[in-house]
Amino acid sequence: MSTTPDWTTIRQDFPLLERQVHGKPLVYLDSANTSQKPAPVIAAVDDFYRQHNANVSRAVHQLGSEATALYEGARKTLARLIHARADELVLTSGTTFAINLVAYSWALPRLKPGDVILLSRMEHHANIVPWQLIAERSGATIRVAELTPEGALDLDALWQAMTPEVKLLGLAHVSNVLGTINPVADICREAKKRGITTVIDGSQAVPHMPVDVAAIGCDFYAATGHKLCGPTGTGFLWGRREHLAAMPPFIGGGEMIREVRFEGSTFNDAPHKFEAGTPNIAGFVGLGAAADYLQGIGMSAIQAREAELLTYATEAMQSIDGLRVIGTAPGKAAIISFLIEGTHAHDLATLLDLEGIAVRSGQHCAHPLLQAFGITATCRASLAFYNTHAEIDALVAAIHKVRKLLV
Ligand code: ALA
Repeated sequence: MSTTPDWTTIRQDFPLLERQVHGKPLVYLDSANTSQKPAPVIAAVDDFYRQHNANVSRAVHQLGSEATALYEGARKTLARLIHARADELVLTSGTTFAINLVAYSWALPRLKPGDVILLSRMEHHANIVPWQLIAERSGATIRVAELTPEGALDLDALWQAMTPEVKLLGLAHVSNVLGTINPVADICREAKKRGITTVIDGSQAVPHMPVDVAAIGCDFYAATGHKLCGPTGTGFLWGRREHLAAMPPFIGGGEMIREVRFEGSTFNDAPHKFEAGTPNIAGFVGLGAAADYLQGIGMSAIQAREAELLTYATEAMQSIDGLRVIGTAPGKAAIISFLIEGTHAHDLATLLDLEGIAVRSGQHCAHPLLQAFGITATCRASLAFYNTHAEIDALVAAIHKVRKLLV
């Protein structure tokens, strides 16, 4: 593809974006929740079931070899997307499973009473609740790194919070509510100096910017496929080889073993020892196609496009009376959480839906974050490269219209 992507043509790759909702053209502004899927991803899943469907890593027949090659090919494509080695990439059902894998397999055997798990205030519940469960079982405690009023991490407070008791830091690369992009490489460098293991939740980062896990310097990096233009039920955990080698399996079953005897079993090497049972093969074939598709456009081009759309949307929304944006950190990603004085976020989202506009409202699986801002819900418009300036104009016009009904 050329260095300047043709965004009009790229949008046409997304068949669902052509549909209408409530008799109005769909304006899909909920990509932080889940992304839409381009035709090559849909075609890859369809082709898998029509031509190649078989189980992976088990059968010697032709279809079994083809399915295994496609599944392992997807692992390699995903590894390229984050500049990692394929044998350090565990394919999971999503970020939640990936973080739970680290929690139960890396953290639980190591943490003990007196240890501290450090989490930021802006974490999604998927990077809070697994650690609470581990804290209960290990006797470790949770410490929270707080934010500035703009919704950036308070870095001075973070450095102070990194005391010798802290054994693990769980941190979002990009906040799903605020859009804040955390300086993960700087933070992982400081954590490493202090012997703190780092777990980065990349769910909102990998779809929107170049990610290089080696450059970040983290220990673990998790992401989900369905926000990455891929099918639901897919995702991955990248982990340093030495960690994956030392970790016991999390889930036991077929294909993760080397030998099974009733006296005891031995296990396959990573990443396969973490992939018990038949995986979501077609889903990963689709996710591999998604990673190919995104790399074909170029992650830097996607990042620049979304930054431009964010600037346009932020300026256009200034015309709305009573608007308050939650999350104004410099250089943020294309997520706009907002409130409009005198309206409830759910009412606003419900009326916007009647105008064909899909935004998410509520707490966005981030209760502690909203509590810190003293609010119970926001409306959230989250953009992707396939959105258009005209859709942002439609959002702003619709907000003006529904505001008159609500205020
Ligand atoms: N699906 C979650 C969101 O909407 C992560 O932000």
